[in-house]
Amino acid sequence: MLIRVPRRSDEKESAVTDPEIYRQRRIFMQQCAAGVAGLAGSLLVGGQAQAGLTIGAVQSSPYSTDEELTPMHAATHYNNFYELGYKKEDPSRNAAALITEPWTVEVEGHCENPGTYAVEDLVPVDQLEERIYRLRCVEAWSMVIPWLGVPLSVALKKLRPTSQARYVAFQTILDPENLPGQRRAVLDWPYVEGLRMDEAMHPLALLTVGMYGQVLPNQNGAPIRIVVPWKYGFKSIKSIVRIRFVEGQPPTAWNQATPHEYGFYSNVNPEVNHPRWSQRRERRIGEFRKRKTLMFNGYAEEVAHLYSGMDLHKYF
Ligand code: MTE
Repeated sequence: MLIRVPRRSDEKESAVTDPEIYRQRRIFMQQCAAGVAGLAGSLLVGGQAQAGLTIGAVQSSPYSTDEELTPMHAATHYNNFYELGYKKEDPSRNAAALITEPWTVEVEGHCENPGTYAVEDLVPVDQLEERIYRLRCVEAWSMVIPWLGVPLSVALKKLRPTSQARYVAFQTILDPENLPGQRRAVLDWPYVEGLRMDEAMHPLALLTVGMYGQVLPNQNGAPIRIVVPWKYGFKSIKSIVRIRFVEGQPPTAWNQATPHEYGFYSNVNPEVNHPRWSQRRERRIGEFRKRKTLMFNGYAEEVAHLYSGMDLHKYF
């Protein structure tokens, strides 16, 4: 069954959640997670009609940071989503150009269960977790966002990759007729990304369908994206239509565009500068003073072992 996801772009400015209301809702959600199961999505979104995806009880996660959340308005109006335009305000402005219904994800390659999947086949909505993660963009700004999703490993295990699958490749929708950014050859469309299998199976990698207690707005990658918090933001590919299990390292959109600037791994690393600017510091959106960028975006304890013995200047 296909899910119906409302066009978040149709949302009025006044409908965007105030951060304080959101915080109160989080406490409410945590109480629900502790006891009551089967909460309907419409309750979570403060009465806004959710035509499609029903968000079940949301579990809080030990992987969440307790840092202050970025206001929802900033996280949904300061975006990189080149398919919807190249300036930060373009994706929210052009969000209606992304047609999210119907939506299916093709699964191919080295796995036992290839086929066409609906979003909710991959993301069990009654098992959603809220993960509050730092998102650190390669452009040296960062945000703290409460995502809703399940570990990517939950979906991938269901697809049963074989031992030949050493990497997993992801592809975004290709629809130049509707998506204004795809009418110019700024990237080699469609946007593609990839992870090594052990990175994809790491519990921090999140397959995401919502944020701030609601389904994903189009500009943030509706209806389904990944979030990989220890890597620069561009690895967190949006609006996924294809997952392919492959043997060799797959091409990635930014590496194809400028290989000397963007590597396959793209782990957040203050020791490895972008050729045109430093990666030592970052500006948290909403703050004035810059912060120090942390190795693996602060997730070193959890993920550093994935790269032991690798020269991270070479494999940047
Ligand atoms: N995915 C696609 N398909 N197209 C894009 O242009 N931009 C990436 C990433 N995923 C991008 C994408 C970049 S550069 C960043 S920083 C994050 O999405 C931004 O995610 P956000 O807008 O939800 O904060």
